[in-house]
Amino acid sequence: MIAINDIHKVFNKGKANQVNAVNGITLNIKSEEFLVIVGSNGSGKTTLLNLVAGSVIPDKGTIIIDDNDVTKLADHHRSQWIARVFQNPISGTASDLSILDNFRLAAIRTKPKGLTIGINDQFKQQVKEKIATLGMGLENKIEQSMGTLSGGQRQALTLLMSVMDSCKVLLLDEPTAALDPRSAEVVMRTADKLIADFKLTAILITHNLKDAYNYGTRIIQMSEGLIINDLDSTKKATLKQNDLFDWFG
Ligand SMILES: Nc1ncnc2c1ncn2[C@@H]1O[C@H](COP(=O)(O)OP(=O)(O)O)[C@@H](O)[C@H]1O
Ligand SMILES: [Mg+2]
Repeated sequence: MIAINDIHKVFNKGKANQVNAVNGITLNIKSEEFLVIVGSNGSGKTTLLNLVAGSVIPDKGTIIIDDNDVTKLADHHRSQWIARVFQNPISGTASDLSILDNFRLAAIRTKPKGLTIGINDQFKQQVKEKIATLGMGLENKIEQSMGTLSGGQRQALTLLMSVMDSCKVLLLDEPTAALDPRSAEVVMRTADKLIADFKLTAILITHNLKDAYNYGTRIIQMSEGLIINDLDSTKKATLKQNDLFDWFG
């Protein structure tokens, strides 16, 4: 459903500080595949994700999402397919607004699955039901401002709001990097559940090799703008956690 064909991205072309961030990557990601990307700093992971999201436009190559050539389409024109969650929990939601109002805003912006902005009480009830599925007890705090929640709680709500869009692709760039270990675990489990429940195609970039091992149906390793390892679900299932550490040996 995502076909990346011989994609290249060079920054500062022709200058002394030229970087070939993505160096001719071809990658086909199937519908409902959950792809994990690992690789050392500067290997081009975020650039690849930006190319899929449309916040970076390639110098060469094509990107097809669901039979639509999106190669030259700006990111806001790809939002019908793509939702994105960043490292920083603050960037996904408005701190001063209540949980309920954040969902209201999201509902106005997009057409979220299973939410109708009609009668107030009905909307409130729907939001409560959605939030209850996170299993964090936040359904009883929907009048509380987002800023009073923990990073993990905010990130879980951001995830929920983003996947309730009509989107089919979820991009996660180190979504737990700014969280304490317990919150990180909650957010990863939430992401995994939402990806399965909403039948999403997902790409996760992580530095956490345990998460890379435990989550996802396929794993790739990037180095210097290229894919140097690619394990499908069968091969990933037989991978040992230590093998992953060896990749970085
Ligand atoms: N906007 C940019 N301008 C110039 N160089 C960039 C830009 N974005 C990324 N780079 C460079 O491209 C390379 C790959 O970066 P990135 O994709 O962020 O790697 P990763 O996410 O794997 O750490 C790095 O050398 C980085 O400095
Ligand atoms: Mg990065």
